Amino acid sequence: MQLEELIRNRRSYRALEPTEITKELIEETAKLAQLAPSCFNNQPWRYIFVYERETLTELHRALSKGNEWAKAASMIIVVFSRKDFDCDLKKNDIRYYQFDTGMATAFMILRLTELGLVAHPIAGFSADETKTILGIPEDMKVITWVIVGKKSEAETLPDFFRDHQKKSEKERPARKELEEFVFFNKYTNTT
Ligand SMILES: Cc1cc2nc3c(=O)[nH]c(=O)nc-3n(C[C@H](O)[C@H](O)[C@H](O)COP(=O)(O)O)c2cc1C
Repeated sequence: MQLEELIRNRRSYRALEPTEITKELIEETAKLAQLAPSCFNNQPWRYIFVYERETLTELHRALSKGNEWAKAASMIIVVFSRKDFDCDLKKNDIRYYQFDTGMATAFMILRLTELGLVAHPIAGFSADETKTILGIPEDMKVITWVIVGKKSEAETLPDFFRDHQKKSEKERPARKELEEFVFFNKYTNTT
């Protein structure tokens, strides 16, 4: 798949069915995160690839309401970092650890998409419970989980799917128009 097609095909599907997860798949995916750019090449991203059934089941209790669909994950990639793992550009009031971790994670999401898998990032989980279950130190920031599975081809969706979730299985949620986020040469106030 060409890059443009890959980006167009990526979707945050929620109806998932089991798929086999291997160490080779994990390493291959992680090797692409490894190549992401980062401030001063600091590589602030950290990942726990959870695919053993017992630990997956433990993580279910950290899911927020509305994310019950994620219990069908074959793998959950827990994405975390720490503020001081990356540049703190005081001059511009920016810390880059979340930005750089996001870029590396996007590379992984695209590769998983290319392999025919769903890789759906979520924020709806308890970071504290995640840390307790996985033994992540208190001073880390759990940034996202990426829910990995195979898109279900079943005709009907589980009952607990909410209306917007049912809708977004069929069509991609609307996007802002380019005029709302693209500026040419200088900023123009559009609000
Ligand atoms: C940081 C982040 C947090 C998200 N949190 C959730 C979530 O908790 N539950 C969920 O179902 N989807 C979540 N999503 C998925 C978005 O709802 C989805 O990306 C958006 O609606 C666009 O749909 P698309 O990815 O299929 O194009 C999240 C996505 C991102 C990037």
